[in-house]
Amino acid sequence: MSNKVIFTMLSLFSIIVLGACIIGFTLSAKTPKEWWNNSFIYQVYPRSFMDSDGDGTGDLNGITSKLEHFADLNVSAIWISPIYVSPMADFGYDISNFTDIDPVFGTIEDFTNLTTRAKSLGIKVLLDFVPNHSSDEHPWFKQSVQRVKPYDDYYVWLDGKLVNGSYQPPNNWLSVFGGSAWEWSPVRQQYYLHQFTRGQPDLNFTNPLVLMEMEKILIFWIDHGVDGFRMDAVNYLIEDARFLDEPASGANVPADDYDSLDHVYSKDMDQTFVILKTWRKRIDAYSKKDKEQKLILTEAYADMESMKRFYEAGSDVPMNFMFIGQLNANSTTMEFKRAIDSWLGMVPKGHVANWVVGNHDNSRVSNRFGAGRADQLSMLTAVLPGLGIIYYGDEIGMTDREMTWNETVDPAGCNAGPERFMLKSRDPERTPFQWDDSMNAGFSTANETWLPVNDNYKQINLAKQKMEDVSHYKLLKQLVKLKKTPVVATGTTEVILVTENVLGVIRKLPDVKPVVLLVNFKNETVVVDARTWMNIPAELTVFAGSVGSGIPSEVIMDTTEIYLPAEASVILY
Ligand code: GLC
Ligand code: MG
Ligand code: CA
Repeated sequence: MSNKVIFTMLSLFSIIVLGACIIGFTLSAKTPKEWWNNSFIYQVYPRSFMDSDGDGTGDLNGITSKLEHFADLNVSAIWISPIYVSPMADFGYDISNFTDIDPVFGTIEDFTNLTTRAKSLGIKVLLDFVPNHSSDEHPWFKQSVQRVKPYDDYYVWLDGKLVNGSYQPPNNWLSVFGGSAWEWSPVRQQYYLHQFTRGQPDLNFTNPLVLMEMEKILIFWIDHGVDGFRMDAVNYLIEDARFLDEPASGANVPADDYDSLDHVYSKDMDQTFVILKTWRKRIDAYSKKDKEQKLILTEAYADMESMKRFYEAGSDVPMNFMFIGQLNANSTTMEFKRAIDSWLGMVPKGHVANWVVGNHDNSRVSNRFGAGRADQLSMLTAVLPGLGIIYYGDEIGMTDREMTWNETVDPAGCNAGPERFMLKSRDPERTPFQWDDSMNAGFSTANETWLPVNDNYKQINLAKQKMEDVSHYKLLKQLVKLKKTPVVATGTTEVILVTENVLGVIRKLPDVKPVVLLVNFKNETVVVDARTWMNIPAELTVFAGSVGSGIPSEVIMDTTEIYLPAEASVILY
């Protein structure tokens, strides 16, 4: 072979390699398809965000009137919890018409107005898609009860078990909100499955007609301008067809508590992922003409293996609940490191990591971790790669408001009874947003709001935090900015145990200063040599400290000797 031929082959080879690099680069780089990467998404719980008509419950026009708030924060999108027609047995997660707006929230025109105005401000709008169940007042269910075709097979119906001459539920399955997951229909003379309240009958996802109905609903809302969906309770879609009793979990809880069983037959079934794939395909095919891909977030409190399968089945954001479910105020730095590392290691190539700070189903971050540590999670979320998801009120450090039994309205609380409601109720984290120090915290002009406003609204409110030099609000704005910087957007990530009680995260890119986060887990001041343990420059500037840490921004720090006040977090760059 002559030299010339070898040369040509070599150059051909390098062209191919170079080409592959370029293709590889464009695929993994932040194409507009991934508009959510390196951003924050803000969850709006519509009943509690802003009330425009003075009836004490938040509504769409209320959200529209406050769209500037999202633009100020510079979040990329809002996800609005259900706004569809609903008897409100589960405050909107029980839907009796999937393609219309409940009058308490407004009208379809109000929704169109909201999305149009949001678009003009550069804010994307995501809706909650609740496929697992409808309301028992949905026309499908009413006809199913009557065995009207084809609705007779839209839900999960089974005969009772005849025990000593009387009927009992088909098996021992429990509702997430406590008690049997089966409800007897005297009309149909059968039991129906409800994994949530009895007003939320589970749809039958082995029926292709049900799948078609759900696709139509997705298309309807895409036609109404939504940018994606948060898919509710997807790991409950399918049940094992044998309907066997579930084994006891061994948890020390009453027998009717959901946690008393191991849900091996009613959750996380393989077929879930097949369904998700069909939705992904359908949504993509339908929105091909749009410049940007619709976003799919999936809600499933599930193990790491399932998270990976959700990604592979087409979820862009299999919500990462580690800061809610797995880790708490008693977790060690080592447990944090292990959990974060394993998530980062699990995310399949080409996919985006995500971190959820709070939501409407769990205590607020200040209550889960203590007021002193209220900013740690949003700071971690900002510095770690990918997407952050925050819950309304997180940006001002809102706290749970304890409710009495009489004030309790959440079915999860009501079902648990007067002795245990406080362990289960989600009312405390759903109180009205605290806009200012006027009546009802500026949320509503009503005499009574649907849930009481937290008494602390005069101390904790947005207007006040906008005025203060140091506040949760100001900090969060900084964090949103930080997420978009090149180091945080594309740099390498290391999670380090700087000491037994100090967790460190470093983001690096060649030739630029790293971004470094230090989190003090301890309730006392510590002095750390971050330079040695993290291999970072001797001097870095403070980007931001947690509220209450007293660490001023923009000062230069000697990284060999950093004073970290009790429970403080600091970001250096
Ligand atoms: C999801 C929602 C929760 C709701 C349940 C039933 O877990 O986040 O609020 O009660 O699904 O739809
Ligand atoms: Mg209202
Ligand atoms: Ca189901």
